Amino acid sequence: MESKTLLFLFTSSLCCILSIHAQTLRTYIVQLHPHGETSFLFSSKLNWHLSFIQQAVSSDDDPSSRLLYSYRSTMDGFAAQLTQTEFEYLQKLPDVISIRPDHQLQIQTTYSYKFLGLNPLREDAWYQSGFGRGTIIGVLDTGVWPESPSFNDHGMPPIPKKWKGICQKGQAFNSSSCNRKLIGARFFTKGHLAASPSRIPEYLSPRDSSGHGTHTSSTAGGVSVPMANVFGYAKGVARGMAPGAHIAVYKVCWFNGCYNSDILAAMDAAIRDGVDVLSLSLGGFPLPLYDDSIAIGSFRAIEHGISVICAAGNNGPLAMSVANEAPWIATIGASTLDRKFPTIVHMGNGHVLYGQSMYPWDPHMSSSKKELELVYVTDGDRESQFCLRGSLPRHKVEGKMVVCDRGVNGRAEKGQVVKEAGGAAMILANTEINLEEDSVDVHVLPATLVGFDESLVLKSYINSTIRPLARIEFGGTVIGKSRAPSVAQFSARGPSLIDPSILKPDVIAPGVNIIAAWPQNLGPTGLPEDSRRVNFSVMSGTSMSCPHVSGIAALIRSAHPQWTPAAIKSAIMTTSQVSDHTGRPILDGDKAAGVFAMGAGHVNPERAINPGLIYDIKPDDYVAHLCSLGYTRSQIFSITHRNVSCHEMMKMNKGFSLNYPSFSVIFKDGMRRKMISRQVTNVGSPNSIYWVEVKAPESVKVIVKPKHLVFKHRNQRLRYRVWIMSRKRREGADTMAFAEGHLTWVNSQNGSYRVRSPIAVTWK
Ligand SMILES: *[C@@H]1O[C@H](CO)[C@@H](O)[C@H](O)[C@H]1NC(C)=O
Ligand SMILES: *[C@@H]1O[C@H](CO)[C@@H](O)[C@H](O)[C@H]1NC(C)=O
Ligand SMILES: *[C@@H]1O[C@H](CO)[C@@H](O)[C@H](O)[C@H]1NC(C)=O
Ligand SMILES: *[C@@H]1O[C@H](CO)[C@@H](O)[C@H](O)[C@H]1NC(C)=O
Ligand SMILES: *[C@@H]1O[C@H](CO)[C@@H](O)[C@H](O)[C@H]1NC(C)=O
Repeated sequence: MESKTLLFLFTSSLCCILSIHAQTLRTYIVQLHPHGETSFLFSSKLNWHLSFIQQAVSSDDDPSSRLLYSYRSTMDGFAAQLTQTEFEYLQKLPDVISIRPDHQLQIQTTYSYKFLGLNPLREDAWYQSGFGRGTIIGVLDTGVWPESPSFNDHGMPPIPKKWKGICQKGQAFNSSSCNRKLIGARFFTKGHLAASPSRIPEYLSPRDSSGHGTHTSSTAGGVSVPMANVFGYAKGVARGMAPGAHIAVYKVCWFNGCYNSDILAAMDAAIRDGVDVLSLSLGGFPLPLYDDSIAIGSFRAIEHGISVICAAGNNGPLAMSVANEAPWIATIGASTLDRKFPTIVHMGNGHVLYGQSMYPWDPHMSSSKKELELVYVTDGDRESQFCLRGSLPRHKVEGKMVVCDRGVNGRAEKGQVVKEAGGAAMILANTEINLEEDSVDVHVLPATLVGFDESLVLKSYINSTIRPLARIEFGGTVIGKSRAPSVAQFSARGPSLIDPSILKPDVIAPGVNIIAAWPQNLGPTGLPEDSRRVNFSVMSGTSMSCPHVSGIAALIRSAHPQWTPAAIKSAIMTTSQVSDHTGRPILDGDKAAGVFAMGAGHVNPERAINPGLIYDIKPDDYVAHLCSLGYTRSQIFSITHRNVSCHEMMKMNKGFSLNYPSFSVIFKDGMRRKMISRQVTNVGSPNSIYWVEVKAPESVKVIVKPKHLVFKHRNQRLRYRVWIMSRKRREGADTMAFAEGHLTWVNSQNGSYRVRSPIAVTWK
């Protein structure tokens, strides 16, 4: 997130330089009709796919040289490099139902390494429920460091019989890299290489060059590692959410990003390989579902009973920033933990500032006790303020404590820049964008992060005196002193831009200062210059939240093998909590968090295994929902492979609303009342009675009928209706107003079964 703005500029200029070389060729994803008129003429799908390229390509090029992937499970179609003319030709063919250019997505960590691939690199650094038992979590990411102690298979059960995946050989990776924990690994480069043909110094294999994929896959399913820590900070047992689950990694992200063509190929393989859960800590911006490869691929996945869990993105707190918002995906925002790494900055004027740091502080090392001269280099352009590479003049910073503003480049990189310029310490100052958000990192020199308020005090002190001084006192790890969980500042927010009738994100899960496995050839900062070696490092982002929920989905799946992905998601949502560990509302900054920040709430794995009731959804139900969005027949076809007349479907399903575990009602065009129907399935004990508890949103009346549900059997389904009525007088034409409440079914015999659904109301 830090470097997003610059990064986008950078990668787009890179792409244009490259596209001058390969001016005419661009990667497209071509989706074909699964029962295409011409398909029967060919002996295999591959030959059928090649025939389209053959027809389109006028030159003597061998069609197979243009083909990147042939897709079978996520869609019938292929990815190929085509010229504009060839693209236009294919677009007109009757069997082609959609064709779209390949896009680049990003991993969703707030710590960005993307600049790394562009730095000169040192060669050696680069080339060298039973706890989810029986389930397989597929992780689409930057690969894995298989020797990490988190992927030890001691005590793991045998590989499930249904597993059909492979352990793909490549650079520094062979079949012995996999075991009973890490049961599969594949890598996908074709889309990436087509877009950035220059050889990038990273492992051409499932081996992780950046750390992100090792971190996320161990968060989902890593085994227990006692005494895991980062330089003595946060000492404790590191354990994935589902330590009994098997992991399969699909490397689709490279230093230049993750391409849709590679992601689709990975999902295509994962569906056939037999994963139970797919974890995608990557994404971009909201896209209509028929243009969104992840939405399309995951529709096929859920049809195969695979849960798909995705990061919501890090573009918060901006409203409508949530991505990966298809209703069949579980969309995960980020929360904070109650663990802090406090520091105190003693300024020369006797005042103190409070910050956070994970610098490997040694109490016997005198340098960290020393008072240093403070400097904030602001003259010239803004580069030195952000401590960009080459922006700090040595004569100004040598031996000093340098203040760097957050943003533009990676946080760890700023520390490296200060160190290279001769600086002795660093204070990383939040700006107005980050406010008090406190993601910490490991740095290469003594450093601390301070919030925005503190940064103003610090800068005015520097301004007020000729020789400003400061000293950093490091305080180790403190647990339980702060209110948590709370919503992470950067966590992407709803309402959903493309489908506001579904409340997104679905839930939040820990995503700030998460400690998990790390490649053993990388320093904890991930910077090539960092020669320290660790087994664990710290990261923040919705990238870290997503695998927590993937692990929880594996736990539920292992406890209830028959449940659908929608049932598993319902269990996670309706049992999540809306109060923090002090019993007060979960905070978002200094206010109580709203539903567009936290969805149904903060995940609670223990309750999610035993939710009492679930809201189930069949794949066919999503078709009616897509009709209600006004999608055309062919748009719906390209997502669902179902050829329906929405006119008839809506006539048959009058007043249809998706059986979603949360409610989002939009009042517009003078509408004042909406009836919603829902169906719950009893997955708790037989002979259960549930009573409804409603907190109506402000200016809204809510009526539920019936008010109680009497279940005689397990798996019995009962329907109820909700009328939501606006009492608001007409709003001004262009104001948008929101209100929120909830509807909870409470078991009358056992009050711990509380099945809670948030209600969001929007006036447009
Ligand atoms: C696989 O790699 C490991 C370590 O990287 C090496 O010790 C082993 O000999 C390799 N095995 C094969 C069959 O290449
Ligand atoms: C410090 O002083 C400079 C110039 O006098 C001014 O532009 C800047 O706003 C001041 N900064 C703070 C934080 O007071
Ligand atoms: C990392 O883990 C390996 C295997 O458990 C161990 O041998 C090594 O000492 C650890 N390295 C560090 C820096 O803790
Ligand atoms: C869907 O069915 C209609 C007729 O029922 C047909 O004209 C149309 O080509 C079909 N579309 C697809 C994408 O199969
Ligand atoms: C009450 O509900 C909880 C789940 O929330 C369950 O663990 C517990 O066994 C139930 N108790 C009884 C007596 O059914």
